[in-house]
Amino acid sequence: MTKLWTRMIAAAVVAWAAAPLSAETLELTSPDGKITVTVKDDGGQATYAVSFEGEQVIAPSKLGMLFAEHHGFERGLAIAGSIRASKDTTWEQPWGERRLVRDQHNELAVTFKPADGPDRQMTVRFRAFDTGIGFRYELAEQAALAGDVNITEELTQFGVGEKTTMWYTPSDEFNRYEYLTRVAPAGKVDDAHTPATFRNEAGIHFSIHEAALVEYSSMSLDQLRPGNFESKLRGWTGGPKVKTKAPFTSPWRTVQVAREAVGLINSDIILNLNEPNKLGDVSWVEPGKYVGIWWAMHIRDRSWGRDQIHGATTEETKRYIDFAAKHGFAGVLVEGWNIGWDGDWYNNGDLFRFTEPMPDFDLAELGRYAVSKGVRLIGHHETSANITNYENQIEAAFDLYQKVGVRQVKTGYVADAGDAVRIDENGIRRYEWHDSQFMVRHHLKVVTEAAKRQISINAHEPVKDTGLRRTYPNWLAREGARGMEYNAWGTPPNPPEHEAMLAFTRMLAGPMDFTPGIFDLKPNERAPLRPDMPRGDPSNRPETTLAKQLALYVVLYSPVQMAADLPENYEAKPDAFQFIKDVEADWEQSIALAGEIGDYVAIARQGRKSKEWFLGAVTDEQARDLSVPLSFLDKGKRYRAQVYRDGPDADWKTNPYAMVIEEKLVTGGEAFAVRLAAGGGVAVRFIPVK
Ligand code: NOJ
Repeated sequence: MTKLWTRMIAAAVVAWAAAPLSAETLELTSPDGKITVTVKDDGGQATYAVSFEGEQVIAPSKLGMLFAEHHGFERGLAIAGSIRASKDTTWEQPWGERRLVRDQHNELAVTFKPADGPDRQMTVRFRAFDTGIGFRYELAEQAALAGDVNITEELTQFGVGEKTTMWYTPSDEFNRYEYLTRVAPAGKVDDAHTPATFRNEAGIHFSIHEAALVEYSSMSLDQLRPGNFESKLRGWTGGPKVKTKAPFTSPWRTVQVAREAVGLINSDIILNLNEPNKLGDVSWVEPGKYVGIWWAMHIRDRSWGRDQIHGATTEETKRYIDFAAKHGFAGVLVEGWNIGWDGDWYNNGDLFRFTEPMPDFDLAELGRYAVSKGVRLIGHHETSANITNYENQIEAAFDLYQKVGVRQVKTGYVADAGDAVRIDENGIRRYEWHDSQFMVRHHLKVVTEAAKRQISINAHEPVKDTGLRRTYPNWLAREGARGMEYNAWGTPPNPPEHEAMLAFTRMLAGPMDFTPGIFDLKPNERAPLRPDMPRGDPSNRPETTLAKQLALYVVLYSPVQMAADLPENYEAKPDAFQFIKDVEADWEQSIALAGEIGDYVAIARQGRKSKEWFLGAVTDEQARDLSVPLSFLDKGKRYRAQVYRDGPDADWKTNPYAMVIEEKLVTGGEAFAVRLAAGGGVAVRFIPVK
């Protein structure tokens, strides 16, 4: 044989080996058969696609991963095997928006190998539920991934379609997750945090997010070709995106799918894709309602730091404890109690001392006083995102709180995105992102250190929620969006549509400590308490009616719900306050009944203790007539409905306090009709007639 022939045959063999032996297509369908995932290896490219009732939701989109020091999984791949499984179980949440959660799904684990060699493999495990799909990468221990594995890119794409409408917040700006929801054709969006919510041209709603974000960095969506996003992992400063070792798994990438927008809310995919409780007996985790020395700071009645109007004094805290005890609140949050707040605390994270109270705050006495009244102090650790400073004190800090009877701590990471301080092993100051692997690790450290002392966590300026409350049930809530505080000083404040947006976007991730219940709706119009401390801009105010403030307790789920306003403002409106006293924060069941993204939403929830049902509905700047079926009540059974609705002439701007409180007899199964004012809402408690 001539040399040329030998070379030609060799080339042909290589070409034959490099191309997939035969392109393969695998399909996975949801238990109800409506959702289909299609996995292929055409042209050596691993792809998946998602359809709903035969209509495309995610076009064929790439899968893959690249590493710094190892060969990645990108081209020349072939499906080398697959395994199927199905599951239908029901598990119980210790607290939550529903007690029993059904996990019913079909599973397909697909292993890809390079067509030119059997020595490397990547498995992508898909799960199809009736309300959407999830998939994750699983990289087994293997010689080809020996040693440290540094992920430089995850190549997952989401072909959502250029003209699909997208509701999102930007992912690369300074204010972390705290942006108003934007809406645009997907093809026009540069980058987005998840959950991002979509409605395609066929009218199908879907949401892209992730579940079980552990030992990995957070994913945002980065536009490639119009309508096609790639997962963008938040890297370490000066390092890779993720530092890991095989074996490892990525978080689940999720696509919730529903015909109607409310179907997205009525999905448990995120929780179902998390690991079961790792903490064992968590009867010490206490959901509940709380008040606190908090809004007073935001409206400049009080200060966090040491001056004449320091909020966290022993005397003032006792006033709040007495108020909480009198009205049945479980906790009293106190901010500004420790050393570090004086001066520019936003930029002074190095100064916080988590075991040193200010001289005018007697922590031990207040812990005792609270418990004697059947209330608990809620602790506060503002770190200004100096993580090393906090971690250096964390054990002592939680020991102290445990000693004085604190069962819940609110943490805070105020700092610009990308400014979380990490002092490295050489003492060099580094700055990391709030959604980086570094912060993912940090939050879990806080949650597990707290759990050792039977303390629960409510993180502000957090990394986004991905359902880890299932695995760590002491992780009660997070902020991670614009909360009520923006109505005190945010310019602009949250617009009337804000909460009807959150319900279909941020809230799909998990509970939010939004802190509702402001009764003085024009806080910045009052005379300042101190001439040198003028109030904020009077145009900053909650752009809601009073009835809507009440509705938020049902609409925006959190196991810890604050009654955020000042005690005197509640005492001035005892009738409205009664709803906040009656409503529960822990639920047996929750059902989103009706709504459209950013327009309105109506949600019903059944209290876990009382078994009473509550209904909350909110609208945007449009007044609207709402009619919702009382399908959640026992059919034909009579109930006394205590209704808190907008008055006939209510309007968030001109007449926010006009509210009708009335009791009506209603029957399970019938329709409940009510008018919501512009920026308005309705809150209802249903008591069965004996
Ligand atoms: C921002 C938090 O969201 C807010 O609730 C808190 O009062 C301040 N940081 C101070 O920690």
